[in-house]
Amino acid sequence: MKNSWLNSSVGYQIYIRSFKDGNGDGVGDLKGIIEKLDYLKDLGIDYVWICPFYDSPMDDNGYDVRDFFKVDKLFGTNADLKKLIKEAHNRKIRVVLDLVLNHTSNENKWFQKSEQKIEPYTDMYVWKDGKIKSGKLCPPNNWQSIFSGSAWKYSEKRKQYYLRVFSEKMPDLNYESETTFDEIKKVVDYYAKLGIDGFRLDAVSHLAENENYRSVKNKQSALPFSDQPKNHIYLQKLHKCFEDNNLVTLGEVSRNCSKKDLLKYTSKTELDAVFTFSHGEIFNKNHTVDVQKLMKVLKCKNDTSVKGGMEVLFWLNHDYPRLLSKLRNEADPMGAQLCLAALMYFLKGSPLVFNGEELGMENYPFKKPEDFLDVNARMLFENSQNKEATLKHLIEESRDNSRTIMQWSKSKNAGFSTAKPKVLLSPTYKINNAEQQEKEQNSFLNSYKRLLKLRHDLTEIINEGQYKFFNNKGLMGYDIKSKSRNIKIIANLSKKDIPFEFKNSETLYSNISISQKLKKYQVVILEKRKH
Ligand code: NOJ
Repeated sequence: MKNSWLNSSVGYQIYIRSFKDGNGDGVGDLKGIIEKLDYLKDLGIDYVWICPFYDSPMDDNGYDVRDFFKVDKLFGTNADLKKLIKEAHNRKIRVVLDLVLNHTSNENKWFQKSEQKIEPYTDMYVWKDGKIKSGKLCPPNNWQSIFSGSAWKYSEKRKQYYLRVFSEKMPDLNYESETTFDEIKKVVDYYAKLGIDGFRLDAVSHLAENENYRSVKNKQSALPFSDQPKNHIYLQKLHKCFEDNNLVTLGEVSRNCSKKDLLKYTSKTELDAVFTFSHGEIFNKNHTVDVQKLMKVLKCKNDTSVKGGMEVLFWLNHDYPRLLSKLRNEADPMGAQLCLAALMYFLKGSPLVFNGEELGMENYPFKKPEDFLDVNARMLFENSQNKEATLKHLIEESRDNSRTIMQWSKSKNAGFSTAKPKVLLSPTYKINNAEQQEKEQNSFLNSYKRLLKLRHDLTEIINEGQYKFFNNKGLMGYDIKSKSRNIKIIANLSKKDIPFEFKNSETLYSNISISQKLKKYQVVILEKRKH
């Protein structure tokens, strides 16, 4: 079965521009990734998902693709990509690329032809006439962009509005047009030929729009262009092309996606695995964990696999602030992150670590609006009535928080580049970096390595076993039972040490040394001995 490798593999997401600069221009690139493949192998990684590196005007750091067939010069060349695929495969690391299916850049030649009504591109994007209200030309309806502001942009050339669910430089593709499928198929075939192993599919909930194109009551809701019935039909059609090329697909679904839609997406006739975001809701406002909510989320993610689907098991990505910062008011944020990592990554599904997570990297110390680089932050400021409140919100939630330079060492530019970085560098690199952590036996990085190694060792029981969750007197976690083995994952996220009997079991992992108690923020993985 082509996707059988997904649930026995640990993935690693690379935000290319901030990972490693290999050519000394201050921006991360493909060469830089090649340099760090041995680091990833040592960490226990089986596949990398690399964020977009295609030719782009970089309105949204590459999620606005101008030419799908060309590596942007900022990130290297097509030859570098071929080399990366070869070098990764030599180390038995699979390569998953990011495919942006919902939109392109407005500088993409498909869009330019569509704007000029050159066939067969005329209907390749979502074009609608405006409405005249009180003598003024207005957008076709009140739909709002996920990035804020109207979801429509007027084209003077075509005298029509185009839909843009994200920024105005990112027009939405129209999957009612066969041309869209034909062109996307060419992209998929091209990368399959280069030998990649799969795609992370960007924003796949939004391919279809509500066909009535009516205004909605709740303007802020993304519902009219999320998880529409036709979305499934489009994905089924696209699935054939991925399947023919033996490529796995990991699709990013919307935050509000219902369980029914989610199971449909991951039914293997649409996507192999899904990214869902319910885990973002387990944090209290005061930067601690809500244990009840955490339990609910873990069960729910596991349940997707039990029901025949698969979830990507992750805490972080390039769109969310750092986990450690979300946990900063726990008495031991590092301990809390390790508890969360173990609880998530030993569920059924496909674990994925985000670059820098394994070092316990933190949010960036933003002070003022000009500090932010992200188009989403810029648009929020533009559309905000209360700049002060927006600043406060972005300091906590900005996507730039997770896009800072990977902290390789305490040397100049954190060992990221020989040139002055064009990406934000967090001042914590001097005390928190990979070089230092590699040397310390009990460092965060080494804890992650031990966890990920154990995840591999337990693959079989995780995939075959039955799960039972518990949350009892401050101790939470789950038992995994198969005919021959009995594993317990148990964490103490209460604020006190709790007596615990370790007898008749072997400790496979613990973040803190074992005693008569389960100490606060301790997470332990045990195997019950057979007598
Ligand atoms: C989801 C990506 O993860 C995000 O970074 C991007 O801005 C949007 N999709 C639009 O492509």
